[in-house]
Amino acid sequence: VIAVLDFGSQLTQVIARRIRECQVYSKIYHYSTPAAQLKAEGVIGLIFSGGPQSVYAKGAPHPDPAVFELGVPILGICYGVQLMGHFLGGEVEKSKAREYGHGELTVRKPGKLFAGLPRKLRIWNSHGDKLTRLPPGFVATATSDNSPFSGIEDAKRRYYGIQFHPEVFHTERGVDIIRNFLVGVCGAQQDWTTRDFIDHAVDEIRTKVGSSRVILGLSGGVDSSVAAALLHKAIGRQLTCVFVDNGLLRKGEREQVESLYQRNFRVDVRVVDASRTFLRRLKGITEPEQKRKIIGRTFVEVFEKSLKAVGHADFLGQGTLYPDVIESVSIGNNPASLIKTHHNVGGLPARMKLKLIEPLRELFKDEVRAVGAALGLPREVVWRQPFPGPGLGVRVMGDITGAKLDILRNADAILQEEMMSSGYYYKVWQSFCVFLPVQTVGVFGDERTYDYVIALRIVESTDAMTADWAKLPHDLIQKISSRITNEVRGVGRVVLDVSSKPPATIEWE
Ligand code: XMP
Repeated sequence: VIAVLDFGSQLTQVIARRIRECQVYSKIYHYSTPAAQLKAEGVIGLIFSGGPQSVYAKGAPHPDPAVFELGVPILGICYGVQLMGHFLGGEVEKSKAREYGHGELTVRKPGKLFAGLPRKLRIWNSHGDKLTRLPPGFVATATSDNSPFSGIEDAKRRYYGIQFHPEVFHTERGVDIIRNFLVGVCGAQQDWTTRDFIDHAVDEIRTKVGSSRVILGLSGGVDSSVAAALLHKAIGRQLTCVFVDNGLLRKGEREQVESLYQRNFRVDVRVVDASRTFLRRLKGITEPEQKRKIIGRTFVEVFEKSLKAVGHADFLGQGTLYPDVIESVSIGNNPASLIKTHHNVGGLPARMKLKLIEPLRELFKDEVRAVGAALGLPREVVWRQPFPGPGLGVRVMGDITGAKLDILRNADAILQEEMMSSGYYYKVWQSFCVFLPVQTVGVFGDERTYDYVIALRIVESTDAMTADWAKLPHDLIQKISSRITNEVRGVGRVVLDVSSKPPATIEWE
């Protein structure tokens, strides 16, 4: 195993992710993990993560000095280089200003770390202090505009240091640098796959859960679906999933969840129909944030009540992914101590005294999809478009009624059908209909109509932070439009939203 010692960097999980990309097995360890433990666990190489501190700061995280006697290769990244300088007899200069952003690296001596890479590389820096004198035994291998010691090595002891961050996307060929260390220097095997992740996770879940029960709120989205499938593989019927029908779901959604999980996977899924409660509380509410609050609060209430019917459980399972884990790194002993979890059922576990179990916590979205696929979840689930928690509640503009929801559901089902059959469903970020409570004049047959408007919102995006409207073929748009106006009673007009985000948001409310 490759050990990543975490010195409190926000990027530690990204390092781990890059190692998985190289198909190498790694584990993240607290920075103070005793060298003896690392040895006992069969560590074949160490990576020191970056960190927000100065090596000189009071209480700055330092490794067990004995790690330098393990005889295994070490790669120090950013703060990790400072540590090497500090512990091995170099000099680190304190600096008040941080160097942050793009830089250019010039490789002077490729050695094993930069083997096979171009002589010039764009790199990403983010550091305060810097190394000003090499520790004995080291030579400089790469320089940048700001540092003669951007890359250093002691090939004899197999110690390597880099001042920049190879794990971030902005560093060109960063993964190759990491792979060179893992494979070229440590001799790691490249055989770690999604299957291995699943086997490990299953073992861990079984150990943690023992004979207790786990409850999971299933939404039908990718994250909770994959978490459910993984937990089910590990503990079978000790898992109970609760699916709340809030009356704001899309057409057929509840039936899909029932058939997939109950019939195909034999998961214990309890469907709670709370649609009337939700709709009653939403009656007459037009303000989007107020809708969200009501929906969120009602969900927690309904979920909590349903747990009583399910019976005692010790654990709450959640499909939290790494990007949901907001790290606010603390200063002092435990860099991870202030990590907060961002989840959909806010406040629930604390109130209910449930322990959390989050088997996807270290993964990124694409990795979660790979796990889902390996567990046998269908493509429609693994590659499902994002769907907001408040559902159609924020897609019916203004006040929500059952009749408006029905119109929206029917129009949306047509859109999804056409997106699926044309293959565009998987090519765009999101595609959905919005109900506009505006009545417009039209003709149907010989009759004058006065019906509502449906807006098509179809966007491309990579992270939902920015988005652009998708330029779908006109004949596809036309087909969707004519099917909606012909097949959905109450809709007289279809419009296409051609706004990008910003300034518009993806959802209309
Ligand atoms: P906006 O509309 O802000 O949406 O551009 C960005 C992404 O977030 C989704 N979204 C939500 N998801 N609860 C959610 O779980 C919400 O209240 C919510 N509002 C927006 C939206 O679908 C898009 O993917």
